[in-house]
Amino acid sequence: MSANDLPPARSTSPAGGAPSAGQQPTTDALRDSAFLRACRREPVPHTPVWFMRQAGRSLPEYLKVREGVPMLESCMRPELVTEITLQPVRRHKVDAAIYFSDIVVPLKAIGIDLDIKPGVGPVVAEPVRRREDLARLRDLTPEDVSYVTEAIGMLTGELGATPLIGFAGAPFTLASYLVEGGPSRNHEHTKALMYGDPRLWADLLDRLAGITAAFLKVQIEAGASAVQLFDSWVGALSPADYRRFVMPASATVFAEVEGYGVPRIHFGVGTGELLGPMGEAGADVVGVDWRVPLDEAARRVGPGRALQGNLDPAVLFSTPEAVEAKTREVLDAARGLEGHIFNLGHGVLPTTDPDALTRLTEYVHTRTAR
Ligand code: CP3
Repeated sequence: MSANDLPPARSTSPAGGAPSAGQQPTTDALRDSAFLRACRREPVPHTPVWFMRQAGRSLPEYLKVREGVPMLESCMRPELVTEITLQPVRRHKVDAAIYFSDIVVPLKAIGIDLDIKPGVGPVVAEPVRRREDLARLRDLTPEDVSYVTEAIGMLTGELGATPLIGFAGAPFTLASYLVEGGPSRNHEHTKALMYGDPRLWADLLDRLAGITAAFLKVQIEAGASAVQLFDSWVGALSPADYRRFVMPASATVFAEVEGYGVPRIHFGVGTGELLGPMGEAGADVVGVDWRVPLDEAARRVGPGRALQGNLDPAVLFSTPEAVEAKTREVLDAARGLEGHIFNLGHGVLPTTDPDALTRLTEYVHTRTAR
């Protein structure tokens, strides 16, 4: 495995100061990458691009290396994780890598009986619905996920000046899988618990906030340059319920990793009405789906935060001309933003033509070159 097209790893610059114990050295080139500059709302040479779910979708090279390896097992093999994480960086020349894993990996690591079923998603053998079930959610230690530390160590060497984004599922979205027992359209069991036993709900989210924060810390200490908290399904809630039932736990996660100084990204789907409170929860960058134009999203999020988004992933199934036209709409709406990271409004859809993603990356880079 080699990242032929990637810049070589650089040695630590003395000007950069010593990295804290356990963290990978940060180079000037990495610190000055377009992605990290945009997260910090600094001027950029071009708008940085990466795609949620860029690693491990329809790429033929991904399907080849995954052959015969179940999803969760693939997340525990450092060489495989490294190869899959690098694949979209090599192919599309995106400005950041996202660590190949899944939001349920930390739950599996603490002993929750769950599996990822192809075409379905995470399925939990025994749903968490009663107070006695909380005992199954023990704290996560770095030893539980030593393969993550190992894989990120390998990755940062290969990536050089390309930032690596670590990630975790947010407490609400993880709770939804645990309480429902699997993917859910209406989140009825989750809401039944949230409204019917607010104390148990708060304790559940508190447990999950601890696990999530611990999982993000492992990734940052191993060398991740940024982290994203996926609250994919929180758009199912009203703003008032979000503030009361979810925001405290998500805010705890962001506060727990604040001291590392790495950018924190917060993303959810269908969250147009929640952008204000999601911005308040403590992230540096707020991810926006395709339903709200970025200029309007900036008004809702308020000043002091960069935005990430927000091309509809389904647009990539259209003609190259239509993709460019819709991309220009996104870039035009982003023109006055303090910081913009180009992304899709949700993850790459499984049957997306990989070449459409390569073309899109190049188009955004060319069009925004300053
Ligand atoms: O972004 C990346 O490319 C990194 C890898 C990544 C995966 N899952 C790999 C994966 C990331 C960031 C995730 C996050 C994730 N997982 C989220 C949040 C992002 C989002 O899309 O909203 C959620 C909700 C999950 C839970 C989950 N895991 C779902 C809904 C699915 C898809 C089920 C399916 O087959 O369509 C999974 C499985 C999964 N996670 C796969 C991959 C590559 C497919 C597994 C397989 O091919 O066997």
